[in-house]
Amino acid sequence: MEYIRIIDSKDYVEQKVQIKGWVANKRSSGKIAFLQLRDGSAYFQGVALKSQLGEALFDAITHLNQETAVEVVGTIQEDGRSKFGYEIHIEDLKVLGDSVDYPITPKAHGTDFLMDHRHLWLRSSKQHAIMQIRNEIIHATFEFFYERGFVKIDAPILTGVAGENTTDLFEVDYFGDNAYLGQTGQLYAEAGAMAFGKVFTYGPTFRAEKSKTRRHLTEFWMIEPEIAFCDHEDSLKLQEEYVAYLIQHVLDHCDYALDVLGRDREVLKRYTQLPFPRITYDEAIEMLQKADFDVEWGADFGSPEETYIAEHFEKPVFIMNYPKAIKAFYMKDHPDRDDVVLCADLIAPEGYGEIIGGSERETDYDILREKIINFGLNPDDYDWYLDLRRYGSVPHSGFGLGLDRFVTWVTGNKHIRESIPFPRLLNRLYP
Ligand code: 4AD
Ligand code: MG
Repeated sequence: MEYIRIIDSKDYVEQKVQIKGWVANKRSSGKIAFLQLRDGSAYFQGVALKSQLGEALFDAITHLNQETAVEVVGTIQEDGRSKFGYEIHIEDLKVLGDSVDYPITPKAHGTDFLMDHRHLWLRSSKQHAIMQIRNEIIHATFEFFYERGFVKIDAPILTGVAGENTTDLFEVDYFGDNAYLGQTGQLYAEAGAMAFGKVFTYGPTFRAEKSKTRRHLTEFWMIEPEIAFCDHEDSLKLQEEYVAYLIQHVLDHCDYALDVLGRDREVLKRYTQLPFPRITYDEAIEMLQKADFDVEWGADFGSPEETYIAEHFEKPVFIMNYPKAIKAFYMKDHPDRDDVVLCADLIAPEGYGEIIGGSERETDYDILREKIINFGLNPDDYDWYLDLRRYGSVPHSGFGLGLDRFVTWVTGNKHIRESIPFPRLLNRLYP
């Protein structure tokens, strides 16, 4: 008899198999009991009949506690009434590990309670669905870049300098010196692009942002491609192609998870249609001012502004060419203007905000050095980065996609905290 995972049930219809998992829920009447079983791969129903199992085993089954670990032997049957489509008719059951007073019961719990029990909450079906989608997006990312000849390079997490700005750095003591948790892998990705042509990093990044919003984590995961001989225009095309690819991958591989989450596939399909609309920062300001937003040219956008702009488009929208003063030091000046840079933020629809930030990078040694100084940074600290402009500097561009925000958007979830297994927030470091 084969030990199988629930997800593979379709290949074992009418066959006797063994399942190992946990009892997520149960209900029973005098003669029949239904166990909601999960094994990490999926959830399905186990049916136990008193007439078949005998009094003692049936009685034990009706008394199983929630989250008891069990080994089940039975026959897989089609089950037209469930979304999953299969169930197991139990012939034998053995308890592997009891579970007494499992804290998360089928009744509704508050978010703080659930977050305090995040290590257990991950077992529930909605969280399971979100993490499956997250996993598929990570998988599709590696596939997308691998197919296009990119090399995955690993940026360090401990860094000596700020990668983005100096306002939200996590400082750590590094044997008596100051080090910071990386805000971005980008500067190292640029070194990688000069070594391998096309690279991407994927790793955790850190921002000591004191913002308590549904879009911000203090530790989040970012995918940062960096491409040599690539201008801003080419980068925008790659960005939209990548986003459409990820959405299509989720549509193709996450059917069950999308059902659990109730995410509208027609809406997601719209986001696979290219190209995405583009507007300039100047146009965005004009739109906002016409709608009586209190914003002047030069201001950065917050969530209400981004949401308002996004509402005018059916798909994600690029906002291009932001003022130099509100963007990072490494961005290249617009060729025709000295007040804006060659950059874009990709704003997701439905109020999810910025999912990608990207730009063409400054390639000239002297200009870049001056930009570093103008941003109040010490150019000596960036000497290695400036080397990239000393030795064979070429046009290059890149961008960063915030994985957790992207997952929040695709799953149609309200808050970013459910898009990452163990969220780190302003007021949360537990569990
Ligand atoms: O716009 P950001 O700050 O860009 C960079 O870090 C560049 N170095 C990227 C690059 O060009 N290689 O961040 C990129 C994305 C944002 O669009 C957003 O999706 C996400 O990272 N992000 C956050 N996600 C969750 N919590 C936070 N605190 C985030 N800050 C940024
Ligand atoms: Mg940004």
